[in-house]
Amino acid sequence: MTTSTPDAFEDQFHHVALRHERVWVFIAVTLIAVLFLVAVWFVVHDYGLVAKTTQFYSNPNTPSQLAEFQGSGVKQTGPNSYDVYEIGRAWSWTPGTGTPLTLPVGAHVTFYVTSGDVLHGFEVQGTSINLTAIPGVVGHVSYTFDKPGTFYIICNEYCGAGHQAMIGKIIITGAKQS
Ligand code: CUA
Repeated sequence: MTTSTPDAFEDQFHHVALRHERVWVFIAVTLIAVLFLVAVWFVVHDYGLVAKTTQFYSNPNTPSQLAEFQGSGVKQTGPNSYDVYEIGRAWSWTPGTGTPLTLPVGAHVTFYVTSGDVLHGFEVQGTSINLTAIPGVVGHVSYTFDKPGTFYIICNEYCGAGHQAMIGKIIITGAKQS
């Protein structure tokens, strides 16, 4: 057998081409897999967008009945750091709707978020805060308010007839820190 005949040449050509195709498919699939894992890693670790769930309850009504969620829902934990216990209900945020949540600039806040009825979306505009308020579950997310201003809490998951009016207010007071 010799490689000088057209048939043999073609066979060899196909063999080589097939090998190259396999290599490039492998490279492409590997790149996509690596980029996917990098993207997931960033979302989970860097942006803190994923709700870190602290507690589950067998009775969905339990979290909103906890002592921390009663009263103002705001607990100072350090010189300028706070725990905020936030309940979403159709169709208000407590604290936030009616009486705004007012904190000084630079406040480092950990929000503990739950729902008193159905699913709500806890999103604070202009920040990376975005998690789902789930009955029976307390999720948490931390954020530092570096700039003064008014930040609106909006519900971003459809929760009934008053969904679009489910708005709360966070007011950050004081001068901008340099
Ligand atoms: Cu609550 Cu939409």
